[in-house]
Amino acid sequence: MVDRNEWERDRPVLTGSPRRPPPSFVEQANVTDPGIYDEFEENWPECWERAADLLSWDQSYETVLREEDAPFYQWFPDGKLNAAKNCVDRHLESGRKTHTAIRWEGKHGERQTYTYRDLYVAINEFAAALRALGVEEDDVVTIYLPMIPELPIAMLSCARIGAPHNVVFAGLSADALATRMDAADSEYLVTCDGYYRRGDAFNQKSKADNARLKLEQDVSTVVVDRLGDDLPHVLGDDECDYHELRETFAGELVDPVPRDAEDMLFVMYTSGTTGEPKGVVHTTGGYLAHATWTSHAVLDVKPEDTYWCAADIGWITGHSYIVYGPLALGTTTVMYEGTPDYPDRDRLWEIVDRNAVDIFYTAPTAIRAFMKWGSEYPAGYDLSSLRLLGTVGEPISPRPWNWYYEHIGNETCPVVDTWWQTETGAVTVSTLPGVSEMKPGAAGPSLPGMDVRVVDSSGTEVDPGDSGYLTIARPWPGMVRTLYDGDERFRAEYWDQFSDPESDDWHYFSGDAARIDEDGYITVLGRVDDVINVSGRRLSTTEVESAITGVAGVAEAAVVGRSSETNGTDVYAYVSTEGGYDDGTAVREAIIDNIETAIGPIARPTKVQFTPELPKTRSGKIMRRLLEDVANGEELGDTSALRNPEIIGEIQAELDEE
Ligand code: WTA
Repeated sequence: MVDRNEWERDRPVLTGSPRRPPPSFVEQANVTDPGIYDEFEENWPECWERAADLLSWDQSYETVLREEDAPFYQWFPDGKLNAAKNCVDRHLESGRKTHTAIRWEGKHGERQTYTYRDLYVAINEFAAALRALGVEEDDVVTIYLPMIPELPIAMLSCARIGAPHNVVFAGLSADALATRMDAADSEYLVTCDGYYRRGDAFNQKSKADNARLKLEQDVSTVVVDRLGDDLPHVLGDDECDYHELRETFAGELVDPVPRDAEDMLFVMYTSGTTGEPKGVVHTTGGYLAHATWTSHAVLDVKPEDTYWCAADIGWITGHSYIVYGPLALGTTTVMYEGTPDYPDRDRLWEIVDRNAVDIFYTAPTAIRAFMKWGSEYPAGYDLSSLRLLGTVGEPISPRPWNWYYEHIGNETCPVVDTWWQTETGAVTVSTLPGVSEMKPGAAGPSLPGMDVRVVDSSGTEVDPGDSGYLTIARPWPGMVRTLYDGDERFRAEYWDQFSDPESDDWHYFSGDAARIDEDGYITVLGRVDDVINVSGRRLSTTEVESAITGVAGVAEAAVVGRSSETNGTDVYAYVSTEGGYDDGTAVREAIIDNIETAIGPIARPTKVQFTPELPKTRSGKIMRRLLEDVANGEELGDTSALRNPEIIGEIQAELDEE
């Protein structure tokens, strides 16, 4: 856990030189008035009407925030709206029927375009089909699809009829699917025959079948035929073909159901502290308002843009920033089915160039990969259409930040480093790209209207320059409302640590550690469990990693603690180098030097182990826990969540040789 440490206070903060947003960007930005911070502060919580006003309400709300039952807050509680109507129908009414809503780029170069009119037809037909299958308002529909257009179509069809969706990332296992369907009491499933992984047809349906076998409830299933003849499949009992359903209900119209703002829009499972996934519940009005407002204010999305968030819709980033936010604003959202290095490492830049993408939003893990592969890949393309770059999901240290800014953004695009979580629903900490100075390595200040704080273990705010726990001291529209698993767990996971219910004083705990500077800029240091204790002093592994990745030739680093008799814990670093650099002594020495310079001898690793890759989950997060087990010679836990499990064996073999 993080405490205030004397030694830490004196250390330089690992942020790069500040940069002003480029004037060409500011001139056209959606939000340019620095007064917005004060305006939101003075007018809280009514300031959030600015977000709600971006939506079309079937019944306008009278109340902005109801706090009586804290921490079960309600936003715009007496309003009614429908998310699908906001994301699709209203754009037809405003004369934008033929505007492209979704531009889909398939793995093997296939392309599909859905205009807002096409999307309208699709979701009406599929909503009619879902109803015919028996789906009623408030029934949870599980969606287990890869990045194909039928995924957002299914989500919006559910939203149209008021059935909350439960999207399970397609790469998760049958067991994971079953657990999530069981926990969400879901009796409906939308899946597909399979999809392409690398060059091969991969059978998704058999995973869905196995999940269904584990469930007690009967599950009515819709199967999308993605692979055609590449993977013939036979439909069993309770199974329908998506395309046949669309034909059966061709031309049907289904009125969007007006939902109470506080009605559930979806549940999304995410990892919890107990190992049981947490079912994060998001509601219709507050979530949609927050996702739409931040798409407008932080990502600067405009209706005429081609906007690309290269995440997977199976996680929250894709929900908020591929589907709901951008579509609510009526823009063109790009959906990419493949990976950044297939067929080659220039794939993303080819897509940006060909589609004249205006806004590109990705994760640090991808940016570090681009950096590792080399700037020659983007250099071969015209990326001048880009106006803004975004990053999310992990801390990004100054070196990859600067690489992104220079080699992708050509120093003309602001970079927004957006901190948020499945639970916050939408961006919470970031600069406003048309207003604020950027500091590479720090996400930014709280967004207007948010009150994000860095506190010590007693809940007192730390001094600038110090680190502590990242908490949120006020409710916000996109916040998690409860956990599907129950209100008790909701309180225990997020509120018990820093709140004082007696005096009705509520503070949300994010589970992250952070440092705040004198300008209120927050550098997220990682989850509190990524913090290690060396000789009684607490070190952020992220901070050490940042020092390591600052070394020329280093692509990625993961730092873990190794039990040590003398120090309690030693710093143990796994490092992958960029192509062309060997694992020679020079890089190792430079790493140690950099760590000592940035943090101090206390953070000097007892071992720097080079590895071709770091083990990662399918969503791209480095599995530090496993690396910690390897370093400590412990038995390894479950490696099934890894995208590259073979790498663990390679690392162990190297260790054994020593
Ligand atoms: C981390 C993804 C540093 C953080 C939207 C958080 C970040 C967790 C950032 C949530 C960022 C997300 N800088 N760390 N800009 N964004 N994180 O729920 O540890 O998949 O708690 O939501 O990712 O991950 P989740």
